[in-house]
Amino acid sequence: SAAPGDYSNLQVEVRGNVGLVAIHRPAALNALNDETTAELLDALQRYDRDSTIGAIVLTGTDRAFAAGADIKEMANRSFSQARRRDAGSFMDLFFALRSPTIAAVRGYALGGGCELALACDIVYAAEDAQFGLPEVQIGTIPGWGGTQRLVRAIGKARAMEMILSGRRISSREAEAWGLVAAVHPEDKLLTAALDTATKIASLSQPIVQMAKAAVNAAYEMPLRSGVLYERALFQSTFATQDQKEGMTAFLDKREPKWTNA
Ligand code: CAA
Repeated sequence: SAAPGDYSNLQVEVRGNVGLVAIHRPAALNALNDETTAELLDALQRYDRDSTIGAIVLTGTDRAFAAGADIKEMANRSFSQARRRDAGSFMDLFFALRSPTIAAVRGYALGGGCELALACDIVYAAEDAQFGLPEVQIGTIPGWGGTQRLVRAIGKARAMEMILSGRRISSREAEAWGLVAAVHPEDKLLTAALDTATKIASLSQPIVQMAKAAVNAAYEMPLRSGVLYERALFQSTFATQDQKEGMTAFLDKREPKWTNA
């Protein structure tokens, strides 16, 4: 498969201990065709496997994070082709990434683009960002987790309104509703995302990954199971050297030196 930098529809770059992946198909507002989702998964999985990378920032271009799955590619697909391709299954692999992912959203995050942002661990938005699931307007419904994750992110009433009408919301509404962690001016967005990613990447990778897994369990599990899962992960941290280092450094009043062990 392609070496980093060899993608047709992505720009990838390492910044310190952070992997930066930018969807780059601006002529189609970063519409996610099959080639782009395959490249995206390849780039993200490479960074996820790379022990020098502690967090990943996913972004788009100035006008769009991504305007959805590629309508040209889907328009004439039959039911059996759609079923065999199972394009949405790439989101399962996206969700299986262990590294924390931060979405930095400028412009349109629509349909599959909104669903991609919803699958990231943290979403930062530029003031001009717009989120929406407009699928009903083109005769289909969200298919990459949107009906499930949007409900969990912003609640049923608001999710229903957005999904049934196709209405787009602004970054400020998205922030007020809890879809977005913070809104930044356009020219500060990427720096803010990279700063948070760098902070996360400076910590112990196994510990951060356990924290991510525990939070994600809140989406996947009933409360009691989630609490037990969290407790098992918490206890597992005591099997790491980084837990010993972190607590000893605190007591010695010095900075910890993480070894990811
Ligand atoms: N797929 C394919 N091409 C797309 C696209 C998409 N999702 N979104 C935009 N484009 C293309 C347009 O076709 C156009 O290409 P041409 O110049 O070759 O005609 C180019 O990007 C620029 O788009 P517009 O001219 O439409 O730009 P605009 O500023 O007038 O409008 C927009 C911007 C409101 C985002 C509009 O492009 C739009 O509504 N896009 C579609 C949004 C959408 O319906 N997304 C959901 C897709 S379905 C899905 O994602 C299913 C799922 O759950 C996985």
